[in-house]
Formats: sequence, structure tokens, C-alpha cells
Amino acid sequence: MAITKANSLKGEIKVPGDKSISHRGVMFGAISEGTTELTGFLDGADCCSTIGCFRAMGIDISQDADHVIIHGKGLHGLKAPSQMLDVGNSGTTTRLISGILAGQPFVSSLNGDESIQKRPMGRIITPLTQMGAHVRSIKDNGCAPLEIGGAPLKAIHYDSPVASAQVKSCVLLAGLYADGVTSVTEPVVSRNHTELMLSGFGADIKSEGLTASIVGGPKLYGQKIEVPGDISSAAYFIVAGLICPNSDVLIKNVNTNPTRAGIIKIAQDMGGNIELLNERIVSGEPVADIHVTSSNLHGCEISGDIIPTLIDELPVIAVMAACADGTTTIKDAAELKVKESDRIATVTENLKNMGCDITPTDDGMIIKGGQPLKGTTIKTYLDHRIAMSFAIAGLVANGETTFDDESCCCISYPKFFETLSSIVNQ
Ligand code: S3P
Repeated sequence: MAITKANSLKGEIKVPGDKSISHRGVMFGAISEGTTELTGFLDGADCCSTIGCFRAMGIDISQDADHVIIHGKGLHGLKAPSQMLDVGNSGTTTRLISGILAGQPFVSSLNGDESIQKRPMGRIITPLTQMGAHVRSIKDNGCAPLEIGGAPLKAIHYDSPVASAQVKSCVLLAGLYADGVTSVTEPVVSRNHTELMLSGFGADIKSEGLTASIVGGPKLYGQKIEVPGDISSAAYFIVAGLICPNSDVLIKNVNTNPTRAGIIKIAQDMGGNIELLNERIVSGEPVADIHVTSSNLHGCEISGDIIPTLIDELPVIAVMAACADGTTTIKDAAELKVKESDRIATVTENLKNMGCDITPTDDGMIIKGGQPLKGTTIKTYLDHRIAMSFAIAGLVANGETTFDDESCCCISYPKFFETLSSIVNQ
């Protein structure tokens, strides 16, 4: 794949289904009674890992591209898997499924690829252990492979040191199997799909400020869910439409849940022409069409409570900052270091190689934008968001941008390059 400079970007596109909602739809459907039907499901490698794990525990799931039907067996209907569950590259699968496994009357184990084996699992081992679960990092390094032994769980209140929806969701899911009320307080509110969706499946779950709580032992019932487009995938085209000349792009049917939509506010703060059209609620989630046109951007500071609402978009926001006049400072984003790659390091290395003035910091980066970028070979570190963010940088760079391996896009957006070429005019 080689990307060259675009003269303009024009057209109307749809992005694949939301990854967080697709994972949760499968998981919650599996532990509910009756049938759950997902349309608009993200048919990417990560969500397919979740499907594989639940099939391995006896759940009948049929999939035809973005249409998935899950024949749930209720809260206590999972069977012990006969081998280690394979979570692939997916942190969401690993951390959320661990909460469910902790409540089962059997011992299970899970493992994934090289990247997942480096990601911190102490953050879920600690609260699950407090709840009485037997969870062990098999290599004793705080990472997968994990062994999870079923034990009776007790409800706890957990003060999470990180704003992480995966940690919050793990504890809330374990809370389904505990007597009484389990609650989690976060330092800053993270994405709230678990709270919205589990309530739709029949759980007694509440959010008040920084705290989410759930009552154990509910009956959950299968649902029909229309999965909206993923704002994390729309982000590439939002930035592309803003930074490329003569551009006008409409991205239809995108999830704009405020706990996810920080990129829209930042694009506006940087002077971007971005508007939300046709705002509506679909399956309990806010959805809109996003319209962007070419803009003269300027730098800004990105820090504080907005960070969890755009954490996965920071690589492509860094590309936007490289194309904006002046300085952009990203702070309070140390979580970037423990994503599919260390995204402070991988964004810095690639933007530097493209000729951008960027300085990494402990919890973010400082980007002095406005200088022309030059094409290079992107080192993706097999991180899907690095590959796609730098494909967008390639649209404004002089010369050719290539990739050491762009196959990682299949994790969240298998047809990314097809969609991109449908709107690029060279
Ligand atoms: C996710 C939560 C976020 C995000 C990830 C998906 C989720 O991770 O980065 O891509 O679906 O709950 P953290 O919980 O580690 O912040």
C-alpha cells in the first residue's frame, strides 16, 4: 500500500460498527436468556476474538458479515472451555471477559498475541481478587496469560486508579455474580457503553457522577441492537477532511456518545469546520452524521477530563496537530503507553520521520505544527491505529508513504483502504 498526496477528498461514507458496542453485544447476549441480534456488528479481528471465546464456552453464535445472532444461555449457562481462550489482540475481550469468568464455577485460562501479553492486567487482577476471585498471571508478570478460577464473589466498592472503561466494565460484570451492590469510582468518567447497554438487557445498573453501580443476580434478556458507526474509525476521515485541501466529507451514522466524542470538541477548538447533522438516538446511544470540510487549523492544549473521551483518537489527533499552525500540547494521557503499542513512542517516531517537530513527554507530547510533512515508511508496530493515522498523514505529505505492515488494520477496520480510496481524488 502506498499513499500519495490528495488533491481533495469528496464524498459520503459509512464506517464499520462501533468496536466497544460490538464486543459488549456479544458478551451481554451470551449471558442473557433468549436471542440477541446485532446489526452493524464490527466484523474485525478483535470482535471475532470475542465471538470465538463465547463459542468455546458453548454459546451458539451465527455470523453473516455484520449481522450476528447470539443464542444466550443466561447468567449461569456458560460451559468450561476445553482449552485456553484466545483473545487475540483484544484488550477489551481480555479485561471484560475476565469479569465474567471470575463469576463462573469453573477454572479457565486465556491468552492472546505478543502485544496482549505485554498489556497490564494487574488493574483487573486487583479488584477481582478483592471480590474473592482467584485470578493469576501465569507468568507472574502482571500480564496474560491469565488463569481465572471460579469462586463465590462478594460485592465491593472499588476506587479505580485509572479512568478505564475496561476496568470499570470488568468489575461491573463480576458484580453480576456477586450478592449485593458492586460499585466502581473512576478518577474521570470513561466510556459508558456497559452502563447503557446492560441496563437495556435488564440489569439494575446506575451511574452517578464518577461512580457506576450494579446489583448482583439479575435476569438478563436478549436484545436487538443496531450498532452505530465507530467514532474511532470515523476519526481518520474527520481529520482527513479537515487537513486535505478542497475537501467535503460526510460520515453517516456515527456514535457520538459524549463519553467518546472528544475529538469533535478538539477539532472545533482547533478551528475545524465540523458539524453534526441528523442527531438521533439509536439503541440507546446518540448517533449523528458528521460533516467536515477543509479548514485552517491552529494548535491547542488537550488535557484533563477530555482525555478518556478521545484516548483512541490521539494518534490521528497528533497528525491533525502536525498540520495545524502553532503548538499543540497533549497532557494527562500516560495511558497511551499501554495501548496496542506505546503510542507516545510510536506516534513520536513516525511523525519525526515525516519531518514534524514533536517532543514526547511522560504523559503526552508537544507538537509544533505547520511544517510540510514528507512521505516515509511507517513503522506500525502492528498497531492498527498507528497504521491508519499515518495513512491520513500520507494524504498531505510530499512523496510516498508506505507501511512495514498494514495488515493490522483488520483489527478494527478491515476495509479502511477501500473506503479511503473511494473519497480521495489524486
Ligand atoms: C475500551 C476502552 C478503552 C479503549 C479501548 C476500548 C472499551 O480502553 O482504549 O479501545 O471498549 O471499554 P481502556 O479501558 O484501557 O481505557
